[in-house]
Amino acid sequence: MSGMEVIGATVIVPREELIKEGKDVAEQAYIKFIPTPKTKPTLKNEETSAMCIKAAAPVFGYDGSLVGILYGGNLLNRNYEVVDKVKDIVYQGVKYKGKNIGTATIFQGDLRISTNVKAEDGSRAIGTRVSEEVCEQVLVKGLPWIERAFVVNNWYIAAYEPVKDIKGKIIGILYVGILEEKFIDMRKRAIAWFLGITLAGMAIALVVSSFLANGVLQPIKRLVFASQQWAKGNLEYRVESTRKDEIAELAETFNLMASSLKERDDKLKEYTSQQIMKSERLATLGQLAAGVAHEINNPLGAVLMYTHLALEDLEEKDVLRKNLEKAVTEALRCKGIVKGLLDFARQTEPKVEESDVNEILERTLAVVENQALFQNIKITKIICLSLPKVLMDVGQIQQVFTNIVLNAAEAIEGGGELTVATRMASDDESIEIEFTDTGCGIPQENLEKLFDPFFTTKEVGRGTGLGLAVSYGIIARHKGTIEVKSEPGKGATFIIKLPLKRKED
Ligand SMILES: Nc1ncnc2c1ncn2[C@@H]1O[C@H](COP(=O)(O)OP(=O)(O)O)[C@@H](O)[C@H]1O
Ligand SMILES: [Mg+2]
Repeated sequence: MSGMEVIGATVIVPREELIKEGKDVAEQAYIKFIPTPKTKPTLKNEETSAMCIKAAAPVFGYDGSLVGILYGGNLLNRNYEVVDKVKDIVYQGVKYKGKNIGTATIFQGDLRISTNVKAEDGSRAIGTRVSEEVCEQVLVKGLPWIERAFVVNNWYIAAYEPVKDIKGKIIGILYVGILEEKFIDMRKRAIAWFLGITLAGMAIALVVSSFLANGVLQPIKRLVFASQQWAKGNLEYRVESTRKDEIAELAETFNLMASSLKERDDKLKEYTSQQIMKSERLATLGQLAAGVAHEINNPLGAVLMYTHLALEDLEEKDVLRKNLEKAVTEALRCKGIVKGLLDFARQTEPKVEESDVNEILERTLAVVENQALFQNIKITKIICLSLPKVLMDVGQIQQVFTNIVLNAAEAIEGGGELTVATRMASDDESIEIEFTDTGCGIPQENLEKLFDPFFTTKEVGRGTGLGLAVSYGIIARHKGTIEVKSEPGKGATFIIKLPLKRKED
């Protein structure tokens, strides 16, 4: 006590010293070891000494001289004041599932001498010992231990700190711990919450996405249904849409497409029925013409024969001779007409052979080119040299070309151009021969009657109106088509299409 100060320290007091303080003090200090798993093996089975907090203060006389020392001690064995204060101050006495959340212990050596950790039976776990691991770290090495630890019967997040005596010797351990169960439960709860939120989020996302997908799927189903209707030919069907988005636009486009399909379909039907009517009308006319021509042909032959006989009997200078010769000319003209009619209505098949259409065209043009009619007409030929040969009756096809070329020349008054072109058709199954002139053109109302026998706009004696009718008949028997495009004043175009292979009837 050289410094004359108040000092305090934790010390180990042996039994003999305790007995001096009183037998009850020694009794309180006495602790019998309770076997505890994982502890350091020891031969001891009881503790007779005690851990005390001791304090000493100098006592001075009036003159300031030291007259004595005031000395006191506090036995820690089975004294719960310190540990319970720690529990109350630090952990506010909070309990979790009936257990103290915070615990504190004072060890003498490795023995629990004061604690609020409870044993299985609910009593304070006095007499149990610290685990060997902690003992090694704290008592032997003098280092703190902060980790998860199994204390008596529960897991704690624990901290152990060595307790030293006045000389710095390690004599015990001070422990504080928090029950881990609460944190584990909190973690479990957090995970459960997190899982719950995730699942709920997923469920909501699922509902929303299925709602959105439905919003897209339904209109698409309607579009598919509409397409099926149209494919079946129900072009009146329309897609209904109450929305105002891309899908509605798509539906609108689908409807537009259906409308144009219907329009095209209607036009095609009308065109086809017109074509059928036209070919039927021409077929009927052909039958009628053939009948009439046949009936006229014989009497006409007789008229010609008798006129010739009469002419033979007449003198060279007879006045009647001129009249009879006129009769012969007119009868011959009639014969020509009848022949034309028979050509138009001819029932017999053409005599076909594989022929080069370019060659027939060249031959036709060579014959007509030198005629006076073609003097002021420039003829342009656009010939496809790789054109395959086609089965046709050369004589008949040449007649068709001649008719069309002559018509063109007659339509061109003064001067103009005639363009003749041959090519493969776009379907690759037929060839096309096109005649375009810069003549007067054909008014709309005449286009329908153009191929009728005896339809002519030419004055009597110049045209018979049989040229195109005959041409139509010939091309039809070749299983081909003949088409005309024209506008008045802008010339006319005739397109003949002949199939490469003649389909069997
Ligand atoms: N290239 C053409 N340009 C203008 N009209 C034409 C043309 N080809 C034919 N036509 C019209 O078609 C009618 C019928 O022709 P067609 O049958 O050959 O008889 P024709 O030549 O004896 O009149 C002609 O009278 C003419 O009005
Ligand atoms: Mg003609």
